[in-house]
Amino acid sequence: MNELRDAVRDKYTERALNIAGGGSGCCDSDCCGEISDSAGCGYSAAELASVGFDPKASLGCGNPTLLADLRPGEAVLDLGSGAGLDVLLSARRVSPGGHAFGVDMTDEMLSLSRDNQRKSGLGNATFLKGTIEEIPLPDAAVDVVISNCVINLAADKTAVLREAFRVLRPNGRFAVADMVALNEISPFLKRQLDLWAGCISGTITVADYRQALEKAGFADIEFEITREIGVPQSEEKIASAYIRARKPAAA
Ligand SMILES: C[S@@+](CC[C@H](N)C(=O)[O-])C[C@H]1O[C@@H](n2cnc3c(N)ncnc32)[C@H](O)[C@@H]1O
Repeated sequence: MNELRDAVRDKYTERALNIAGGGSGCCDSDCCGEISDSAGCGYSAAELASVGFDPKASLGCGNPTLLADLRPGEAVLDLGSGAGLDVLLSARRVSPGGHAFGVDMTDEMLSLSRDNQRKSGLGNATFLKGTIEEIPLPDAAVDVVISNCVINLAADKTAVLREAFRVLRPNGRFAVADMVALNEISPFLKRQLDLWAGCISGTITVADYRQALEKAGFADIEFEITREIGVPQSEEKIASAYIRARKPAAA
């Protein structure tokens, strides 16, 4: 698990440095490769402009802020916040009175996100260093957990979902864009660290994802497949999906 996490950190360090140098964070063959087509990922040009964000710095596979129905005064947490787009958009939506947090393990991504926050002029956002398997926030700290193309990268998805459940308040919402597998990913593919870090070989099936969410305690679980992607030179199929769930009021 540590080897996988190190491979993911190395990959996203490289991508953050590329973005900082004026390039794109995307590779052309992985799930993140089409994000610069911002319309395809659900961000309008006006929305991107509202936080002064360059779409080349986004590495997501959807727009989780669309799902979450954010309201003024709420607290939001983005798991794996990258260059910070979803945190900054959330900060705008929960204003006045609300706050948006991002957590990321890669120093270079945190540095980009803090620069982007300075440029946006938004004061109600905080980027925290940490892993999504051990979120650096207390229990019941937020109303909404969002994430964009990150949970598939975690070797221990059970730990991530348990942590997401812990930091949510009762009745809190989980609203995530992620990659899922439409058939089982072969053990051979799973061992390819590069494909893991490129959001391909770490994906799990919808059934396994649902089971992991149920095991963590979530209710009202819904999956919506948004875009199917073939894996080059293999039988495997993956897709981007929107995933919604709720922490029960009595939990
Ligand atoms: C595919 S990028 C997505 C970034 C951002 N959500 C977006 O939409 O642009 C994955 C991000 O998650 C971070 N990440 C991956 N695994 C992580 C983990 N286990 N804990 C914390 N951050 C992680 C990486 O550093 C990277 O910034």
